[in-house]
Amino acid sequence: MAAPLVLPGCAGGQSALDPAGREAAEVYDLFVVMVIGGGVIWLAVIGLLVHACRRRRRTWSEEGAGRLIAWGGVAFPVVALFALLAYAVWLMPSIRPWLDRSVPEPAMIDVTGEQFWWRIRYPAEDGMAAFETANELRLPVGERVAFSLRAADVIHSFWIPSLGGKMDMIPGRTNVLSLLPTKTGVYQAPCAEFCGASHAYMAFSVIVMDTKAYDDWRRRQAAGNRPGGSEGERLFAHHGCAGCHSVRGVTPVAGLGPDLTRFSDRRTVGAGALANTPENVARFIRNPSAIKPGATMPAFDMLSQGDIAAIAEFLTGRP
Ligand code: CUA
Repeated sequence: MAAPLVLPGCAGGQSALDPAGREAAEVYDLFVVMVIGGGVIWLAVIGLLVHACRRRRRTWSEEGAGRLIAWGGVAFPVVALFALLAYAVWLMPSIRPWLDRSVPEPAMIDVTGEQFWWRIRYPAEDGMAAFETANELRLPVGERVAFSLRAADVIHSFWIPSLGGKMDMIPGRTNVLSLLPTKTGVYQAPCAEFCGASHAYMAFSVIVMDTKAYDDWRRRQAAGNRPGGSEGERLFAHHGCAGCHSVRGVTPVAGLGPDLTRFSDRRTVGAGALANTPENVARFIRNPSAIKPGATMPAFDMLSQGDIAAIAEFLTGRP
């Protein structure tokens, strides 16, 4: 039962071994160096062990044994471990590159982890207004971005394996993470800290776009939906959906649940739980906890099938 629910979350890249960002590439390089370095040390140790077993009948001179311990037991490990440590430390500043004052600090995208979804706020930038969205992050390729990471309830963890990371989101604290996406594409990001019953269903999509497509998307998001006067739009307000969810341009701002402005642009419903189709949206409205155990949204199975279908049509239709 659970497997089909998580499959939409598996679409797209989610591998730290297939980097699409500078930080992920550096972590990958570090991984390769560590594996090769560890492999060479392992081979040397096993080689010495075999050598020692073979000549067990001959006794070592005291001087020879002392030299082996000094070089093989102290000098070699110290040099090898120090070299690996120095390489790792040398890579570290790239995590917060503006600690080097010559790199300007980019505008922060605020991401807040909530049980069990992601609130995402884009700042006003380049003449485009600030706006809120949820569960889907779009980024321009080749531009450094920074995230201020918070948690509303318990500890979550922000990790986009293809781009880099990860960093915990801790209640009462703001953590900052910076990434530089280098390849356009669709990537998946899981919540990387156990945070409750639906931890496994807390994911977001990351879409790295070329600058023009990204700017168009931002402009559309900032502008919000256009009121269309549909039955679903009326029912969305009438049945109280608008009490928790904003659809900017159509309903007053309500900040409790995920912002659903231009929901039709999104790939999934329920933070990676299901593919975004009218049927799945209707299914989610009827009983969110059946799809995401522990979801805050109550079941709306008291509404008629027709009303639920109309609301799903409104959310997934062209705004
Ligand atoms: Cu949020 Cu695990």
